[in-house]
Amino acid sequence: MKILVTGGTGYIGSHTVVELQESGFEVVIIDNLSNSNAEIVNSIEAITATKPQLEIFDLVDREKTLNFFKRHNDIAGVIHFAALKAVGESVEKPLEYYRNNIESLINVLDGMRANGLENFVFSSSCTVYGQPDVLPVSESAPLKKAESPYGNTKQISEDVICDATNATGLRSIALRYFNPIGAHESALIGELPLGVPNNLVPFITQTAIGIREQLSVYGDNYNTPDGTAIRDYIHVIDLAKAHVVAVERMIKGKMKKEFEIFNLGTGKGYSVLEVIKSFEKVSGEKLNYIITGRREGDIEQVWADPSYSNAELGWKAVKGLDEMMQSAWKWEQAYREKDKDKR
Ligand code: NAD
Ligand code: WQD
Repeated sequence: MKILVTGGTGYIGSHTVVELQESGFEVVIIDNLSNSNAEIVNSIEAITATKPQLEIFDLVDREKTLNFFKRHNDIAGVIHFAALKAVGESVEKPLEYYRNNIESLINVLDGMRANGLENFVFSSSCTVYGQPDVLPVSESAPLKKAESPYGNTKQISEDVICDATNATGLRSIALRYFNPIGAHESALIGELPLGVPNNLVPFITQTAIGIREQLSVYGDNYNTPDGTAIRDYIHVIDLAKAHVVAVERMIKGKMKKEFEIFNLGTGKGYSVLEVIKSFEKVSGEKLNYIITGRREGDIEQVWADPSYSNAELGWKAVKGLDEMMQSAWKWEQAYREKDKDKR
């Protein structure tokens, strides 16, 4: 069975393509390479012995998108990762974010409708909860006003998908990711932030390898046990596997309603200092960091209630923080080594 993975050369997409292929699915990727590299399909081939098909174009291009679906009207499911995702950049370039993330979604849904395709999985985010009133946060928690245009594109997208699902023969699953980190154990694929990373873990590994001088820990006066902010970090492989489960659930007709929403988290929160400690333990490196002021817009603490996903999907995140940090470090080292060879 053929699965379309949009954004499939990106960080989470590439790990999901590996898991899909290892589960016997045929994969076709659409990506415009705005935040990834076409060579990733060779790395995926090195892991799975199968090279996924890659079509390079922008999903904001309606004609190309509809034309693609005309040529591939036998797709059993679509997993839509393609989006711009930098929170800070979205504040500076809101129109680019709304255009890219919303128009591409509408074009994909239109292409599916025109060809009678039914199964749609969407990459949503825990960012839709803002700072929840109750922890852990479950899928029924009220959504808070988005802190950024990026976060707003996820809320709007969920609404678009809900309305389109109600009006057409579509079946949809939105997966709300908590904080994905880590990399494939082969160290052939991983996260590749362009420029200075915004996210904690790539900043840690880049500091340890000497590309960044020092990590700033954004605030130690939060109302948490050690004063630093708490997140639910989830291994990207656990996350990728949940997509395979979601697609199979749709194909096998196991959905309870036409539009389902699931949290993808471990259910355990770690503070910034706990993440640093885990990194230092598994890497044997002493990390250069200082405590600075809070980062604007940051949430104090959030972690998932994954019980509904665990029960309904029969899926559970199994990899712990040390394993996440170990794989992130192995990926960083392998990538920089390869980069050195190229120069
Ligand atoms: P990524 O940037 O590594 O991957 C996204 C891919 O989509 C990239 O390869 C990019 O080139 C492609 N793309 C973007 N716009 C496109 C367009 N218009 N047409 C075709 N391709 C396009 O990001 P990621 O971390 O793998 O995230 C995947 C999805 O998960 C995104 O929707 C993101 O918002 C969501 N998400 C990510 C996180 C996270 O922390 N990484 C957390 C929650 C949700
Ligand atoms: C984690 C913790 C920081 C960097 C973002 C998006 C969210 C989602 C995931 C997509 C926080 C602290 C970080 C640094 C630090 N993406 N930190 N120094 O903020 O939870 O979420 O990515 O949907 O939408 O907002 O993740 O990795 O940036 O930060 O101290 O240099 O690490 O303050 O407490 P965040 P993050």
